[in-house]
Amino acid sequence: MLKDQFNRVHNYLRISLTEKCNLRCTYCNPVDLPKGYFAHFDKMLPHEIEQIAAVFVQNGITKIRLTGGEPLVRKDAADIILRLSKLPVKLAITTNGVFVHDFLDTFKKAGIRSVNVSLDSLKSTRNHLITGRDVHSGVVQNIQLLLKNNFEVKVNVVVMKNVNEDEIVDFVAWTKEEPIQVRFIEFMPFAGNHWSSDKVFSYKEILEKVDEKFTYYQLPHQKQDTALKFKANGHRGTFAIISTMSQPFCSGCNRLRLTTDGKMKNCLFSKTEVDILGALRKGEDILPLISQCVWDKQESLGGQFTSVNGKPDVRHIENRSMIHIGG
Ligand code: GTP
Ligand code: 5AD
Ligand code: SF4
Repeated sequence: MLKDQFNRVHNYLRISLTEKCNLRCTYCNPVDLPKGYFAHFDKMLPHEIEQIAAVFVQNGITKIRLTGGEPLVRKDAADIILRLSKLPVKLAITTNGVFVHDFLDTFKKAGIRSVNVSLDSLKSTRNHLITGRDVHSGVVQNIQLLLKNNFEVKVNVVVMKNVNEDEIVDFVAWTKEEPIQVRFIEFMPFAGNHWSSDKVFSYKEILEKVDEKFTYYQLPHQKQDTALKFKANGHRGTFAIISTMSQPFCSGCNRLRLTTDGKMKNCLFSKTEVDILGALRKGEDILPLISQCVWDKQESLGGQFTSVNGKPDVRHIENRSMIHIGG
């Protein structure tokens, strides 16, 4: 069992398949990276991912989510998905949705039932501005395709002040006929994403917007959930809020992360990383490293800042950019 000093048991592993992405979302992609930066990434090979994941699973991991960058841009993504599907875990994926149509059969074969898709605007032009690419209609079509094929779909919306908060009610309206879960995510600070507290549209502000147009009720909450869930009266789908900045939820955290280059992070905001891939390649036993990394996990937010009403001091955070962590 992977337990930390605060008695939190970890059963959820997020594996980043690549730090590359076909989109350029402003909140995720670091700006001003030196040319050739990505070339330095020595990524885990499919059999290495399988071997490392197996050790995690033998020690209590019951859910694996594949992330990126964009996991589906990796040429051997299908091979990796099918390898991991042999493990006794719930397998899930977070994607920008652009290539989903090419992977539907792979998802089915691998027993993936839950797909989280990023979509920050329902307006094509605005979506283009946020993502840097003209992909809106393809992503919406792929969300429909997933629903038609009975996948559970969560739509991730990073809400940024003066960018897309005016669409919160439109996203909730979308849940009237569609059985999706729209998740409004508070904008989080990572290397190179020009975060500032005045760009955060908080949990409280999000609910105030919803209040303007809908009556809703809260759904049951598990202690490990990152999202607080709600349902507007009479709607088929639900909406939820991920309030990392204004109301962190670290006390129930059950998550661990593996980056593309095989480094283990015990928190989204962890400063330190443990080189699991390097140890595996040297033929070392990786379990003691994994256990120690879990044990060393800080109580909240990687121990790097405290968050009060979305106005934390993030000047001294040491972390990767989101695209290099994997969400
Ligand atoms: P479920 O497994 O369906 O609960 O999805 P998820 O929320 O774990 O995954 P997803 O990849 O869709 O992430 C949605 C948002 O939640 C992203 O902005 C993530 O960065 C954020 N998130 C995911 N895991 C964590 C976490 O451990 N801590 C914090 N603070 N945010 C997280
Ligand atoms: N703040 C909040 N959420 C973010 N994501 C990426 N960058 C950020 C950020 N700075 C979300 C995307 C994606 C998920 C894995 O992480 O919406 O769906
Ligand atoms: Fe877990 Fe860290 Fe996220 Fe808190 S910030 S929920 S400790 S991963």
